[in-house]
Amino acid sequence: MRKPFVAGNWKMNTDSHSSVDLATGVARGSVELAGQGVDVAVCPPFVYLQAVAGAVSSSNVSVSAQDIYFEAKGAFTGEINASMLKDIGCTYVLCGHSERRHVIGETDELINKKLTAAIAGGLLPILCVGELQSEREASQTEEVVTRHVKKGLAGLNPEKVSAVTIAYEPVWAIGTGLTATPQQAQEMHQFIRKLLAQMYDSQLAEEIRILYGGSVKPGNAAELMSKPDIDGVLVGGASLKTDDFLAIIQAAT
Ligand code: 13P
Repeated sequence: MRKPFVAGNWKMNTDSHSSVDLATGVARGSVELAGQGVDVAVCPPFVYLQAVAGAVSSSNVSVSAQDIYFEAKGAFTGEINASMLKDIGCTYVLCGHSERRHVIGETDELINKKLTAAIAGGLLPILCVGELQSEREASQTEEVVTRHVKKGLAGLNPEKVSAVTIAYEPVWAIGTGLTATPQQAQEMHQFIRKLLAQMYDSQLAEEIRILYGGSVKPGNAAELMSKPDIDGVLVGGASLKTDDFLAIIQAAT
């Protein structure tokens, strides 16, 4: 049985006070929901990770970074490595978020290096995959997602892959208010699981969690997560409001 997983990606939002307030509220609310078998994580900006890790330390809420650099140390101005993230209490790290692919320009090869370094450093990566609207309209969705999954996981043995969570986030549904229908999302999640079974084996494919992301709200979370291959959600905008995020965690129970 895959345990449901709800993660909130705060992106480039919050400040030193509101990040701790939000984390404290999520931690408090999650303690009440604890024991209901949901993994919860929040992904604050780098500069607030340590404060947020402190705010959630006596709860079941984990902390995730939004990005990582693959080198172990040295002259890489501005970058943050796996051991730094571990050192301040991170459990997870997002790799290949669509905003890093399409705004910052990260390639599949770079994302693969980051994901590999994250696992080597003892972090649990969340590999984000998903097609642009133009790619969906050109019937390239499966091709694009296959490339993201295969190149993202290249070179990893099954044991390492078992550390990975995949997040299917169709780019046209991110921050737009347009959500993939539960049926559209389920189709892609099932497609990804079959792909994992081909790449590794069906047992591993059954164990890997696949989250949906893209305009998830309290009103649509339960129906999305009722689908057999949707194991949780990666939430953007709605994770910035304590009550909305807690309602989405509740929907996962
Ligand atoms: P929204 O929930 O704001 O659409 O963002 C989704 C996302 O990108 C999560 O990583």
